[in-house]
Amino acid sequence: MNIIQCNDSKEVALLSYRIFKEQLIKKPNSTLGLATGSTPILLYNELIKGSQLNEISFKKVNIFNLDEYVGLNSEHKNSYAFFMKEYLLNFIEIEDNHFHIPNGTACDLIEECHRYNNLLSSTKIDLQLLGLGENGHIGFNEPNTSFESTTHLVELTENTRKNNSIYFKSINDIPTHAITMGISNIINATKILLLAIGENKAEAVYNLINGPIDVKFPGSILRNHPDVTIILDKEAATLINKVK
Ligand code: F6R
Repeated sequence: MNIIQCNDSKEVALLSYRIFKEQLIKKPNSTLGLATGSTPILLYNELIKGSQLNEISFKKVNIFNLDEYVGLNSEHKNSYAFFMKEYLLNFIEIEDNHFHIPNGTACDLIEECHRYNNLLSSTKIDLQLLGLGENGHIGFNEPNTSFESTTHLVELTENTRKNNSIYFKSINDIPTHAITMGISNIINATKILLLAIGENKAEAVYNLINGPIDVKFPGSILRNHPDVTIILDKEAATLINKVK
């Protein structure tokens, strides 16, 4: 694993932008795996700037998002489909049918997991972006999810719902379930880039790097992947530096 420490979140965004730019220059029709949440927002700003300056282009790119809440449609302001439009898609040139995300309002959610998983199986993600949950989740693969899991329906833990509550009016509005790419879908990507920002991620980052590779901490599986880069700000790196 390649671990890079930055001074602040701005530097994390600039460095990760460089990795995306390299990927899109090397392969303009790349398949990208993208994440939502607060962590990638500054990177998405850089991707927008880069495409406006014609440094990069999304015209031939396919995007697969990690996850979506059950019960929220793409017009709901808390859905991840809406998030992607608001923070990236509305500002780049990408074919409508090149953006993929699970449909959290499908009548048959199990069938929707199969549909999304079949789509993922028909392609190979060149570069997968990840954030990290305080409990070690990647995507919405909560602790004790099998490393062999494919796209599935998941019940969100109280910890995850609490951490995501800032985006909702009340805790009761937060969906209890989501559809997520499984760990095996994530691990199948050619290259993985995980970003972590802020002191609340320090313990999870420490466990990812130093703890046992165990389903109790889903992110630990990344240590078995041949091409993972982790970019951290100073706060997220606090505990790994203490131990040295
Ligand atoms: C989001 C996702 C989650 C987040 C993680 C960190 O699509 O799959 O795993 O990456 O919960 O969230 P933030 O960035 O909000 O701290």
